[in-house]
Amino acid sequence: MSIIAKSVNPIQIPSKLEGEEWYPLSWNDKKLEQLPAYPDTEQLQSAYNELRALPPLITSWEVEALKEKLASVSEGKAFLLQGGDCAETFDACTAPKIVNMLKVMLQMSFILVHEMGRPVVRIGRIAGQFAKPRSRDFEVVNGQEMLNYRGDLINSYEPKRDARQPDPRRLIKAYEKSALSLNFLRALSDEGFADLQHPEQWELDFMKNNEYYKDYEAMVNSIHKAINFMETITPNTFSTLHKVDLYTSHEALNLYYDSAQTRRVPRKPGWFNLSGHMVWLGNRTKQLDGAHIEYLSGIRNPIGIKAGPPFDLEETLEVIEKLNPNHEAGKIVIITRMGVDEVEKYLPTFIRAVKQEGHPVVWSCDPMHGNTFATGDNVKTRRFNDILEEIKTTFAVHRSEGSYLGGVHLELTGDNVTECVGGANGLNESGLNLNYETYCDPRLNYEQSLEMAFLVAKEWNKSYS
Ligand code: PEP
Ligand code: CO
Repeated sequence: MSIIAKSVNPIQIPSKLEGEEWYPLSWNDKKLEQLPAYPDTEQLQSAYNELRALPPLITSWEVEALKEKLASVSEGKAFLLQGGDCAETFDACTAPKIVNMLKVMLQMSFILVHEMGRPVVRIGRIAGQFAKPRSRDFEVVNGQEMLNYRGDLINSYEPKRDARQPDPRRLIKAYEKSALSLNFLRALSDEGFADLQHPEQWELDFMKNNEYYKDYEAMVNSIHKAINFMETITPNTFSTLHKVDLYTSHEALNLYYDSAQTRRVPRKPGWFNLSGHMVWLGNRTKQLDGAHIEYLSGIRNPIGIKAGPPFDLEETLEVIEKLNPNHEAGKIVIITRMGVDEVEKYLPTFIRAVKQEGHPVVWSCDPMHGNTFATGDNVKTRRFNDILEEIKTTFAVHRSEGSYLGGVHLELTGDNVTECVGGANGLNESGLNLNYETYCDPRLNYEQSLEMAFLVAKEWNKSYS
């Protein structure tokens, strides 16, 4: 059966059941934003079928466990750390990068746990974060107009017209890269990573010039003491030291990718996206009658909703209601990304309205996407201080509204890149080109990320300890 579709690439509906309105491809007759047409619908169909037949990356039990943990965040009993690359790339699927990412997320979470005395839920922007929304469809390179790069899941970064065409084989390749990353992450998390808690793994010297160095050093010493103590009393049985939970997440942007892995599982109602534990709705695909909302309204995974300028309160409330009509706790993470100067304008009324509607959401702050700018040399960057100030202001607004800011959403890497300016090491604009790697947005590096975790914990303590 084929359908008359508003999507430019209408593909067949293998999973529609009689009498059901929603099915993994029901978005196919809605308007699809932020995805250029594939030149060949048949090739797309064939890649879709292939992807659909592959085993899932994760399980429905894991999805449900994460939802429970997020429910406890929404009650103020835990904290959410979500972080990773702006966009993963196929080439960066390597052992050192994966190890460094797990290491930085783990060490940040230790800092948060230690300072807050609450469990921390870790979610990576990893193992599927390959597609990007763009503000422009086209760009001109060397006098040639071509489609913009939209992430390795869709086209190539290489500035050639052909390479920029959407290629359906990338759906399979992205899935394979995600599987490889996740396989290694799981292996590290199961056994090999307990080492990272040991003192020689913490690189601290960069903090020496920071006003908080003494506090920071004391904190790391105290983390080590606690770990040594637990290892001494329960050398082999203290399982959380040997097993690390890192959940995966990505923006549900290329709906062909997400819907091909959306399935039913035995003995549970509903549909699960089994390509990532949590997915989020980007700030540019929030059209109420659009394809992305249609797709997300049918899955049982936790869903992030980015919220920032251009911000429309009524529309955002409708989106939340549509994605969580039963007001299930742990289902919705509102990720505010207002920009440091806009938080006070939008957030207080937003918090009040969500409270009034009775939505049990997790509030998280993405202090990255509202604070990007280009230097005089046209290098895309962010200031450490703007990022920190947005976090501080967001905590302050939640504090005065009596609500719980339960998480942060950061673009970061465990590598020593030079993409954001500022931080204890004082990276300035002229240093950006030393090790600027990202094809998309600038990330906090290892040192900036640890410092940020420490400062986030300080802010949290002002509000909730
Ligand atoms: C992102 O998280 O990489 C992103 C594009 O964010 P937003 O949709 O908030 O702009
Ligand atoms: Co980004």
